[in-house]
Amino acid sequence: MTTKKVVFDTDPGIDDAMALLYLNACENINLLAITTILGNADIAQCTRNALILRDMFDIKVPVYRGAACHINGSEPEDYPDFVHGADGLGDVGLPEFEGDIEPENATTALIELSKKHAGELTLLAVGRLTNVALAVQQDPEFAGRLKEIIIMGGSAEHPGNVTPWAEANIIGDPEAAEVVFQTGTPLTMVGLDVTTQTRMSHEFLEPITRGLPFGDFILAINRTYADYHVRSENRHDFPVHDSSAIAFTTRPDLFGRVRGQLSCTLEGKERGRTVLVEDPSGPHEVCMEVDSEKMLEDYAASIRRFYHA
Ligand code: RIB
Ligand code: CA
Repeated sequence: MTTKKVVFDTDPGIDDAMALLYLNACENINLLAITTILGNADIAQCTRNALILRDMFDIKVPVYRGAACHINGSEPEDYPDFVHGADGLGDVGLPEFEGDIEPENATTALIELSKKHAGELTLLAVGRLTNVALAVQQDPEFAGRLKEIIIMGGSAEHPGNVTPWAEANIIGDPEAAEVVFQTGTPLTMVGLDVTTQTRMSHEFLEPITRGLPFGDFILAINRTYADYHVRSENRHDFPVHDSSAIAFTTRPDLFGRVRGQLSCTLEGKERGRTVLVEDPSGPHEVCMEVDSEKMLEDYAASIRRFYHA
């Protein structure tokens, strides 16, 4: 089994928490670092949440704080507290935690890690692409040293989840997405086309988290997430966004893909749209199909094997 060296760029976030839980349990992934980005809450809260989750899941990797604003200098007008709660993790009460952030910022860390693991690093980004774009802008060699980028974000055919065209991570910082797409680094987009095909529920999570020290916390934050989907979709189960990108990283065989060149629309009402021009020799792949049953089986098996051992 080949092991992938991974840096996880994240904006925790309830589904980011579920993704980190899974990522830490994957047998073929060597997690090297966590970098944070604003998104589901501001950068201070997302970073605090990353530290809480690292301590809770007993993950021994450094956490680096990322950008507090977008690459054009703008700041978010608001955060999606109606989905993730004001604290980004469901407003269920955050536990005390141990451990601190590293002194370097996320961009510096990404550049340094790309040098240390040149040609070997998988950059797995499940939030806005601001940190990645900043690294590209600060070091012209950065993108070329990465093995690949895997993102949760965007959509080729599925309607957006913020506007009819745009997905949250991409419309959060479209200029950053365009900078990343234009590097030509191999990139796989795990977007709404597949993340909406797989759904989790309390009934799925309860048996796999029962007895774990953080089991009640996981169920509580997902209750907040499920409540939002009851209000917005009248469904008790919910889409699996960020964990789908983890699933692609560990089990790419579960996904059907189309190859081409991605770009991001920056102007007009379609701002934040990801556009794929199909091309068999293009640098990008877009996931269009997923074996959801097998993906959920892998999620459950990984949690059982790693945390219940
Ligand atoms: O559109 C879903 C994405 O937006 C996920 O990454 C979620 O965590 C939010 O950031
Ligand atoms: Ca996220």
